Amino acid sequence: MRKFFYAATMVLTICLTGSFAIASTPAEELAEFQQYYLDKFPDTPKEDFINGIYSIDAASRETFDAIEEFAPYEIDVAKGEEMYNKPFADGSGYANCFAEPGVRHLYPQFDSKSGKIVTLEGAINACRKAAGEKPLKYKKGAMTALTAYMAYESRGNIFDIKIPDDERALAQYNRGKRHWYQKRGQLNMACADCHLNNAGNYIRSERLSPALGHLTHFPVYRAKWGGLGTPHRRIAGCNEQVRAKAFKAQSDEYKALEYFLTYMSNGLEANGPATRK
Ligand code: HEC
Repeated sequence: MRKFFYAATMVLTICLTGSFAIASTPAEELAEFQQYYLDKFPDTPKEDFINGIYSIDAASRETFDAIEEFAPYEIDVAKGEEMYNKPFADGSGYANCFAEPGVRHLYPQFDSKSGKIVTLEGAINACRKAAGEKPLKYKKGAMTALTAYMAYESRGNIFDIKIPDDERALAQYNRGKRHWYQKRGQLNMACADCHLNNAGNYIRSERLSPALGHLTHFPVYRAKWGGLGTPHRRIAGCNEQVRAKAFKAQSDEYKALEYFLTYMSNGLEANGPATRK
């Protein structure tokens, strides 16, 4: 009976991961994921994938480098620094919650107490809530000024997202992975269809970026937005491109997706904020 149960769960695991390979660990999947892009874009050094489409598109790279020199997010970084250092009404402040402002590369995290994923934006609002302050909105505005400053202070640190030995952490990772590979929307396309299988190809006038390095540089300043946006703002836009209903920023679904996708960039440098088209 026990043997049968074991066999049945193996079959289930194989079906769920959609592959007939023996079920692999996150660490093995990470190595495979990164190698795929290194093989596909042999002219791009691994550490340069943090520059998104500009890491593989020489034509737009020069413009990008020029914009970054007088970056439009600089004003937000300054505003964020001021916010970070301004005490809350009860006299406490962000320094009571974060060891230092430069912690971008350590999020998202699995929280063993709640069994949930904590993003940087979530940690900021938890900190505010504990001090009796109003939460900040999750997609843009004051939140992105704060995260722009924190990302800026994190520059050069290496992403090191942990998946602790806890089945709830693995379940979050798998939930994110499922979202990433699952076809959705009227166009019936998965994140992987655009950013894995078709990375480097054009969709209408846009060239598709590799997913390696996808979340190393947030928040992102986009001309289209006329300002900064969080990872969940960007991901919601991608869901909508395939005419799928977007999830809410900081929904459990997007937090799991962010956990999976950031883990896949482990070993790369934090380089936020950044500009994108
Ligand atoms: C129909 C194709 C398509 C699908 C499907 C799609 N995207 Fe995108 N995505 C784009 C395009 C186009 C851009 C802008 C150009 C670029 O950077 O690739 C983009 C940009 C992004 C960026 C910003 C990259 C950067 O360097 O800042 C992220 C992150 C991203 N997508 C994540 C996702 C995720 C996660 C999913 C699945 C929920 C997804 N995308 C699904 C087309 C797609």
